[in-house]
Amino acid sequence: MTHLLVTGGAGFIGSNFVHHVIDHTDYQVTVLDKLTYAGNLASLNGLPDDRFAFVHGDITDATVVDDLVARADAVVHYAAESHNDNSLHDPRPFLDTNIIGTFTLLEAARKHGTRFHHISTDEVYGDLELDDPERFTEATPYNPSSPYSSTKAGSDLLVRAWVRSFGLQATISNCSNNYGPYQHVEKFIPRQITNVIRGIRPKLYGAGENVRDWIHADDHSSAVLTILDRGVIGETYLIGADGERNNKAVVELILELMGEPRDAYDHVTDRAGHDLRYAIDSTKLRDELGWRPQFGDFESGLTATIDWYRTNESWWAPAKDSTEAFYASKGQ
Ligand code: NAD
Ligand code: TYD
Repeated sequence: MTHLLVTGGAGFIGSNFVHHVIDHTDYQVTVLDKLTYAGNLASLNGLPDDRFAFVHGDITDATVVDDLVARADAVVHYAAESHNDNSLHDPRPFLDTNIIGTFTLLEAARKHGTRFHHISTDEVYGDLELDDPERFTEATPYNPSSPYSSTKAGSDLLVRAWVRSFGLQATISNCSNNYGPYQHVEKFIPRQITNVIRGIRPKLYGAGENVRDWIHADDHSSAVLTILDRGVIGETYLIGADGERNNKAVVELILELMGEPRDAYDHVTDRAGHDLRYAIDSTKLRDELGWRPQFGDFESGLTATIDWYRTNESWWAPAKDSTEAFYASKGQ
């Protein structure tokens, strides 16, 4: 039976992936997670003991990493510091986890000859103009804007170098913005949903014209499983579901779906260096590996996500007040 080591499996996308793997395969899963502010063990509730194990540890700890990588058939590397706003205020943990942590995992995978899949973001490509007919492809030059995206870009380049220099059996995927259950309330969509639940007005950075290309986390998971299964070693695959929308339209839709007036939100201080637009062309993944997203309809995916936050207040409530206090201190 295939045994996956999933780093960052207590985070948003990692936990969605673990549930997806348990539901759709017969694989064994071990999660390695440091349980930073972004990790939540409750996201892994209900998994079967005979197929799932959790290890509390840091991906920069070479001893722990070596031991776990030695026992896995493949590593799926999600662990990261993942929030742009945090990276603007305190970049150091981004270098430690995203660069040194990835390096530590790569060295262990090289030593043990372990298959490696690196999870990354479309933000490594920088941003596009609103009216640019082009979208990001695997050939787009790297041009990251923030400490977050630059450390993710650095980690991607390390993986490429380990493939070329050491023959590491690795693939990389760069995905667009995810939404769905188990996402921390610091991020855009869950912040606004939980604001409305709490009677706080949603907060839009600047004019809200910035465009993100939304994909449901479950579609991200199916794409990663497809790449693990059929991806060509050394290749990069872009993952996206043609979900471009500007932030203003997303806030208005959340308000409408939650029964509030569409204009019941505030404009707040914009993010420094705020990327204007991300857009993914996922033709390679679709044509070469046959992947298709299942959540074609953003509105129904968002409705299900709103329902999840309404019925799982105990999951997000402990982080809500401190997150809003942090934003308030920055005028956001
Ligand atoms: P997240 O912040 O929700 O979760 C990150 C997880 O990593 C947490 O459980 C945290 O405890 C763990 N972690 C952090 N530092 C660690 C360390 N040093 N050792 C072990 N565990 C550590 O992040 P997410 O949004 O789920 O993103 C997961 C991955 O997907 C990241 O690599 C991110 O760059 C990538 N990605 C995210 C998006 C998105 O929309 N959120 C889009 C594309 C790619
Ligand atoms: P975010 O979820 O932080 O993801 P990313 O920075 O990786 O794209 O933000 C998504 C978009 O929403 C981004 O353009 C910033 C914007 N945003 C707001 O307008 N208000 C908010 O409260 C937050 C957290 C983000």
